[in-house]
Amino acid sequence: MIVAIDGPAGTGKSTVASTLARRLGFSYLDTGAMYRALTWLARRDGVDLSDGPALAVLAHAHPVSFGADGHVEVDDEDVTAAIRETEIDRLVPVVARHPEVREVMRDRQRALAVTGDSVIEGRDIGSVVTPGAEVKVFLVADVDERARRRTNDRPGVEADTLAADLRARDERDAENTKPAPDAVRLDTTDLSIEQVVDRIAELVEASR
Ligand code: C5P
Repeated sequence: MIVAIDGPAGTGKSTVASTLARRLGFSYLDTGAMYRALTWLARRDGVDLSDGPALAVLAHAHPVSFGADGHVEVDDEDVTAAIRETEIDRLVPVVARHPEVREVMRDRQRALAVTGDSVIEGRDIGSVVTPGAEVKVFLVADVDERARRRTNDRPGVEADTLAADLRARDERDAENTKPAPDAVRLDTTDLSIEQVVDRIAELVEASR
């Protein structure tokens, strides 16, 4: 079974998806981490972020791998922390908008998805990557609440700056943030992680 969890940054996607996967004994795939790792690689290797074909070649040559403990690796280097830097937050939509890049990423995401029961989180999972997913959820939340949540992940960055960054990223990601028409929309503004996980677990049970 595939559980697709899509939505913009700060809606609780990663925490919800990884907690749900652990609870169900499903594998967990963070597709945002794949785009982030490619952005990190492009910076390391000096690849022009406006050159879609060159970025796609880079993505092909250096697939991202995920450790069982949630670590993200490229070329045997642990990039788990590096890909969460504010600079990567700002640059990743520039990389992710290239169709050539998305094609490589989606192929890899589909290959990883067919290996068994999985929870996959991203922006276009239920609509484009795995439209046959048995459970599809699209998370949303108020932007100020999303910025407040981000302050825990990005200590040292002002809440106002984080809110402005989130709005800018929403705009840049809009084209590729696609709720599936049959996704269940869940507003997480006033919900705890546990409540969101419970709600999605109910949907999983109902679809078994
Ligand atoms: O989910 P996260 O904030 O880590 O995603 C980082 C970025 O990766 C997004 O801002 C977006 O540009 C890109 N992304 C995407 N499609 C996905 C997942 C992430 O374009 N399925």
